[in-house]
Amino acid sequence: MLKNVKNRMFTHAIVRQPALSMIKGITTADLGIPDINLAQQQYKDYVDALRSCGLEIIQLESDEEYPDSVFVEDTAVLTADMAIITNPKPESRKGEIREIESLLRDIHPNLSKINSPGTIEGGDVLQVEDRFYIGMSERTNASGADQFTEILEENSYQGIKTPMENLLHLKTGVSYLGENTIVLYGSLVDEPLFDSFNKIVIQKDEAYAANCIRVNDYVLMPKGYPKAQSIIEKAGFLTILLGMSEFRKLDGGLSCLSLRF
Ligand code: GLY
Repeated sequence: MLKNVKNRMFTHAIVRQPALSMIKGITTADLGIPDINLAQQQYKDYVDALRSCGLEIIQLESDEEYPDSVFVEDTAVLTADMAIITNPKPESRKGEIREIESLLRDIHPNLSKINSPGTIEGGDVLQVEDRFYIGMSERTNASGADQFTEILEENSYQGIKTPMENLLHLKTGVSYLGENTIVLYGSLVDEPLFDSFNKIVIQKDEAYAANCIRVNDYVLMPKGYPKAQSIIEKAGFLTILLGMSEFRKLDGGLSCLSLRF
């Protein structure tokens, strides 16, 4: 029997300060090199927003060895009763899991790991109550998705492989806001797996806003996407807007900057 996980409330978030080396982070965006000072300010505003949603923050020091390590969401998937350490695909990101694993071993007794040749990144995992949609992206392979699903099933959750295209991660193009409402962009808009949801469709010129996060009473979304903001607010959600320009330069979305549980 699956778990009954409705109205999920978060109490904690793990974040990691941006490294100065983030200027060497992986990117396909042609938006220039991140401005470190602005990135640090945007990170601080993001952490303040999580606090204002009632979360206690566990902050890791920046790690210069890993330029992309601010995107802590990719390293694990957490629920109240389970932690899964992922296996990021890029060689430059694999070592990011070490410190997350030792932190989570202290706070989460029920911890599992994805092993090579399986790869999966947290950005490819969308939790909707007791179900986890797993994006079959360039970063997540069949072995990673199968291992992940096996662990989910041992914990009475369900894993659903989700086809996708032209996105870095699944959550680059889909966010779950609660109350059966889902934000979708691109090929995911017509993906039959999402047909039973109330859909909020993001237009191409505001594609970046498809990555947003529901944190308790608020939806945190990137600043500068007025059509997306208006449609989310009209659907009845309270929003907090955050500058994300410097993380966007590294293909990073708003969800990527924290692990919420
Ligand atoms: N820059 C984030 C990533 O490519 O994983």
